[in-house]
Amino acid sequence: MSISSNPRTADHPVADIFVKRWSPRAFTGERISDANLNILFEAARWAPSSNNSQPWRLLYGHRGAVAFDTILGLINARNQRWAQNASVLAILASKRLHQGVGQERPTLARNHSLDAGAAWAYLALQASLSGWAAHAIGGFDHDAARHTLHVPEEFNIDVAIAIGKPTDASVLPEDLRAREAPNGREKIAAFAHEGWFPAS
Ligand SMILES: Cc1cc2nc3c(=O)[nH]c(=O)nc-3n(C[C@H](O)[C@H](O)[C@H](O)COP(=O)(O)O)c2cc1C
Repeated sequence: MSISSNPRTADHPVADIFVKRWSPRAFTGERISDANLNILFEAARWAPSSNNSQPWRLLYGHRGAVAFDTILGLINARNQRWAQNASVLAILASKRLHQGVGQERPTLARNHSLDAGAAWAYLALQASLSGWAAHAIGGFDHDAARHTLHVPEEFNIDVAIAIGKPTDASVLPEDLRAREAPNGREKIAAFAHEGWFPAS
């Protein structure tokens, strides 16, 4: 079986991993060992965060375990079609409150989701480096996730994540098979502006 080739090219000489990482949907469903999973979590652990608050939390389950089926049940039907073949499904949440050193009371953390996003990105990059893949899923029932996984109100439910071993697109339903290829990006000029926000 051949896995989708990656035709991405960078406009500037970044490390290969930034163009190599992508979000496939075709997974083998094979087990990821706890040792290998911990390598992915370890990468997330070293993400930067506001005040080093490390507000991210990952609730996860291995395929075949109750926690996996519970998270799969939260994911919308369109995403379930491929996410069911992941090795691990996870929900990423982040703590909305932060109590800094010397602070009497916790205050609203402005950057909790930004910090969790950094942790997600580190995990995804490491997954790719390790021969696995991580695919973020926004299409799931956030309220049900809070309720079912007992997530306290002070945490934001950020995103679901499927982790799996990439395989040939032939395992996917036809409509997804056609889309199973790395996509492109806007040019730098579309998002980076020296000075002021550009007039539209
Ligand atoms: C927060 C977030 C939510 C996403 N939600 C979904 C989703 O519900 N279903 C899906 O198939 N892909 C989802 N994706 C994957 C994006 O479509 C994908 O990251 C984007 O097209 C860029 O492609 P790449 O990750 O392969 O580089 C999500 C990605 C992020 C970061």
